[in-house]
Amino acid sequence: MSKPIILTGLRANNNLTIGNYFGAMLPIIDMARTRSNDYQVNMFIPDLHSITTPVDYSAINKQIILTAKHFVAAGLPLDNPDIHLYRQSYISAHSELTWILDCFTGFGEMNRMTQFKDKSNDLAAERVSVGLFNYPVLMAADMLLYGPEYVPVGDDQSQHIEFTRDIGERMNKQFGELFTIPKTVKEQHAFFGKDQGLRIMDLQDPTKKMSKSDESGKGVIFLADTPEAAARKVMSAVTDEVAYVRFDRKNQPGISNLLEILALLQSRSLDEVVKEFEGQTLYGDFKAVVAEEVRRFLTDFQRKLHDVDEVAVTAKLEQSEKAMTITANATLLRTQQAVGLRPGN
Ligand code: TYM
Repeated sequence: MSKPIILTGLRANNNLTIGNYFGAMLPIIDMARTRSNDYQVNMFIPDLHSITTPVDYSAINKQIILTAKHFVAAGLPLDNPDIHLYRQSYISAHSELTWILDCFTGFGEMNRMTQFKDKSNDLAAERVSVGLFNYPVLMAADMLLYGPEYVPVGDDQSQHIEFTRDIGERMNKQFGELFTIPKTVKEQHAFFGKDQGLRIMDLQDPTKKMSKSDESGKGVIFLADTPEAAARKVMSAVTDEVAYVRFDRKNQPGISNLLEILALLQSRSLDEVVKEFEGQTLYGDFKAVVAEEVRRFLTDFQRKLHDVDEVAVTAKLEQSEKAMTITANATLLRTQQAVGLRPGN
């Protein structure tokens, strides 16, 4: 019997942040390492999603390989046959299923997606593409083609998982058991434990998510920052006037964010870290501890990234794409048959 699946995607970008790293990359890689006895793990690079907003098209290809190398540097083993690493656009069933799902998706349903609202607000009107509007449907295809039970993502993607469940269930109701539906976001959080639903905040404005698309980059720690520059960003993080370290996201979002980041960097529980620092009145001393951990983390990560074998990464991509094309095409054909585009059923 085939194993249940855990699946997630991470867009190719030169500017991956520690939010991407701790929110998505590390949890899935930990999961891949610890659960591949019991699960098949699909990690993919959603390159079609990358072009939903204007990007540097000449750089995309390089970024895709670089992103795959990031996964390996973060600990993804390449020699495990139950772990698959692939590029979305290399498996054409993703695009084809998206179109079919599009035709079963309400305009109003998409219009309610908060990510679209957020992202389109950041763009000039003429640059807001139909592709961006359609983004969650492509995501639904990414999942439904393989039928994962679990999809580790950051908080911002929860609504898209709910949509995937909705459209999958709707089509199953109409056409019989076409798709395996991912578990509810709540069940996913329970399965993944503390790292799920994580939201690392911007260092300069700790009320908003740390985002790779942030323009100034001052509040964002990029994996490609020099360790020294990243440490400086921590030292100049916005905090508050309370002068008392405590975890209180609402009233002390800056300090709380730094506590969270420190816990992640030290692989300790938040509780433990809070206990250690609670009550400190000199924010500078506390920040220096976080800054040093960030510096150490980036130095180590960048060394690992430098050592990744690109030939082995490319070979893994090609091997996984071959295998996943077979699975994806089987789901696509079932769907095409159900909606009358192919004979059978
Ligand atoms: P992307 O590349 O924008 O984000 C990749 C993952 O990083 C998480 N993330 C964060 N988590 C915590 N704190 C932050 N500050 C932070 N910033 C980003 C995101 O939630 C995401 O999990 N659309 C997806 C990619 C995708 C996908 C899929 C995922 C495409 N198809 C199918 C799962 C299943 C995305 O936003 O990627």
